[in-house]
Amino acid sequence: MHATISIPSYVKSQRLKNWVMDMAELCKPDSIHWCDGSQAEYDAMCEALVKAGTFIKLNAEKRPGCFLARSDPSDVARVEDRTYICSVNKEDAGPTNNWMDPKEMKATLEPLFNGCMEGRTMYVIPFSMGPIGSPISYIGYEITDSPYVVVNMKIMTRMGRAVDEALGDSDVFVPCMHTIGAPLKPGQKDISWPCNPTVKYIVHYPEERSIWSYGSGYGGNALLGKKCLALRIASVIGRDEGWMAEHMLILAVTDPTGKKTYVSAAFPSACGKTNFAMLIPPKEIQGWKVTTIGDDIAWLKPGKDGRLYAINPEAGYFGVAPGTNHKSNPNAMISAAKNTIFTNVALTDDGDIWWEGMDGPPPAHAIDWQGKDWTPDCGRKAAHPNSRFTAPAGQNPAIDPDWENPAGVPISAMIFGGRRSTNVPLVYQPLSWAFGVYAGATMGSEMTAAAFGNIGEVRRDPMAMLPFTGYHMASYFNHWLDMGRRVGMPPRIFCVNWFRKDKDGNFLWPGFGDNMRVLKWIVERANGTARALEGPLGYVPTYDDLDWRGLDFTREQFHALMAVDKADWMKEMLGHEEFFIKLFDRLPKELLCVRDLLLSSLWRSPDHWELPDYAVNN
Ligand code: OXD
Ligand code: MN
Repeated sequence: MHATISIPSYVKSQRLKNWVMDMAELCKPDSIHWCDGSQAEYDAMCEALVKAGTFIKLNAEKRPGCFLARSDPSDVARVEDRTYICSVNKEDAGPTNNWMDPKEMKATLEPLFNGCMEGRTMYVIPFSMGPIGSPISYIGYEITDSPYVVVNMKIMTRMGRAVDEALGDSDVFVPCMHTIGAPLKPGQKDISWPCNPTVKYIVHYPEERSIWSYGSGYGGNALLGKKCLALRIASVIGRDEGWMAEHMLILAVTDPTGKKTYVSAAFPSACGKTNFAMLIPPKEIQGWKVTTIGDDIAWLKPGKDGRLYAINPEAGYFGVAPGTNHKSNPNAMISAAKNTIFTNVALTDDGDIWWEGMDGPPPAHAIDWQGKDWTPDCGRKAAHPNSRFTAPAGQNPAIDPDWENPAGVPISAMIFGGRRSTNVPLVYQPLSWAFGVYAGATMGSEMTAAAFGNIGEVRRDPMAMLPFTGYHMASYFNHWLDMGRRVGMPPRIFCVNWFRKDKDGNFLWPGFGDNMRVLKWIVERANGTARALEGPLGYVPTYDDLDWRGLDFTREQFHALMAVDKADWMKEMLGHEEFFIKLFDRLPKELLCVRDLLLSSLWRSPDHWELPDYAVNN
């Protein structure tokens, strides 16, 4: 072994010490740094990253405390085709996950990890997903050779000595092993974004509850607390322990009387989840306010009162930058105004950043995400479509005062929504929990840059968890049905689609702040105060049930958004069936019953179902 380990005296867990020593022996780093999570440590590491050329310090007046990183062009997004769930039995991973026998995977990874940190420092990152000490939280330890990962983890999680102290002598933590897979030979000069451009593995062992990631330094491949621990491994822990780890934002809606209702919502990657989590209602919807608990992940546990309580396990936002502006999401712009790490956005001549869709005209000149000169007419994008900001959640002006409440917040409504240009109406409420689970299970979304696949194609993305469920998808549906049976007062489930288009390809719905009109109805429905009508897919609001103050939107426009075309839906249900057939071996019988009831409802509805023209107060 190259480096000697000095383990801080406050680290007591024998399992942890043994694991770190074993990993050091395997990876052979030059030195080892046990992160204490202090501001001084963060500042020193950022400075070192600037010296190494990984970070560019941004203009301190325009972006105080901010840095820009540019990744290798081979390392710009999560790699779903290189992501594995290595359960002992292949059937337990199910047909939607890549699987390899754990023994075979270990034999593959062992030689890759052997000496993988030569010439580098190995960092040990203690982190808590969720407020330290909350009964819903979970501790992880990430070992990495990437200082970029360390500083991002400092923003995205509660990180450092307090976590070591909370763990004490317990052996309950998730070991997360990460390397960029780029050892340095003696005298070899480092580059600004070292990674392994050809070999990448993101591996989960669900029975062992451990994670091994090789070759990438980017986002969810490398910040292992997020998708790997808080979703894939946590979904398995949740199944075993009777709780849920979901790809959901959490927000609070406060009405004019001060009543607060908590809502969680699942949308696939890059469907505006961060925007919805930070929504600012139109000023005409007076007295209504939205505050943010989380923008990506929810952990939900049954409370003693029969409700589901949620925490946001994260402490920061790893938001998609392009398209974010002062209109689409002012709160995100303010969150990323300082102390933020930007990755793969453009650098302006005055030392600030820019991306496609930011406010105002594009700069006349910038340096693009690949470090090349860029002008608006050069034919290339200045920022990578999956470029990101890593910003502390506490900087969001709309952060909810209870966002760190260790008890969590009680969820009254859950929303499922995909990006669908056809078929799926603006909003509906499935008839019951089981109908809601069916709607979530069959959710589809058109592909975007953050996901793996062909842009524009619809992929079934159940509960937005397709790339994030750590076990058989049909068993996951069963777990959802089971949670509905265990929780006395499960949240009401709703479906939304902000992205429906007309025949000419124009969006039918303005979206952004106007989504409040739909959210308001959802909240009122969950609280039992809003009216609804039964449509072919579930309960729906009529035109008169939505608050239109401040928006010129006609009854006809609304009816077009809410229409259900029988022939299209029959085809849609064939798509559901195709997906279900893949999951046949474990598909819960309830979903087939719901399918038949939905078919029966569609069967008796007209070819083109539209909302009736109810008069106001009818
Ligand atoms: C994300 C994702 O980065 O879902 O949050 O891809
Ligand atoms: Mn996400």
